[in-house]
Amino acid sequence: MKKNIVLVGLMGAGKTTIGKAIAQRLGCDFFDTDEVIEKQQKMSVSDIFAEFGESKFRELEKDTILSLSEKNAKIISIGGGSLENLDNLKNLQKNGFLVYLKATPEVLYSRIIEQTNRPLLQVDEPVLKLKELLAKRESAYLLADFVIETENKIKDEIIDEILKVYDEAC
Ligand code: S3P
Repeated sequence: MKKNIVLVGLMGAGKTTIGKAIAQRLGCDFFDTDEVIEKQQKMSVSDIFAEFGESKFRELEKDTILSLSEKNAKIISIGGGSLENLDNLKNLQKNGFLVYLKATPEVLYSRIIEQTNRPLLQVDEPVLKLKELLAKRESAYLLADFVIETENKIKDEIIDEILKVYDEAC
């Protein structure tokens, strides 16, 4: 396999679900930066935020991205805040084909409404928070090699589209 496929986008974009399914289809490894951090630290992301603060989490995220970027032939899903640090973007671009999974804040929230594992969304108005985060982050997401609208599409359609563009580009 060629470059890594790196899935980017806000919380609820489907990065982990789509990433795992692509890895299964291609028969390659899959890594989710949050899962890697949780395994290494033996703590949940929420506990890392609560005990050590967001800045410590961002350091761990940066180290994880750097080490995952070193080799190719895998699928990587990165936490929604990773690209706020442009070093992460640069590192991922070295060996990666970046795909932005796009959806509106309302749809993003509808996909994760039952989940409580995202500390940044434990607020009174989570959709408003997602809107703020999107305004802050979307310029970086749009630097991806491919932007795909994910609303009203089934998983297999999204994967087919991504792999078609990836095969042409890499
Ligand atoms: C975050 C997104 C989360 C996780 C952490 C912070 C963010 O990952 O890294 O809760 O800043 O948007 P997902 O995008 O995989 O939910």
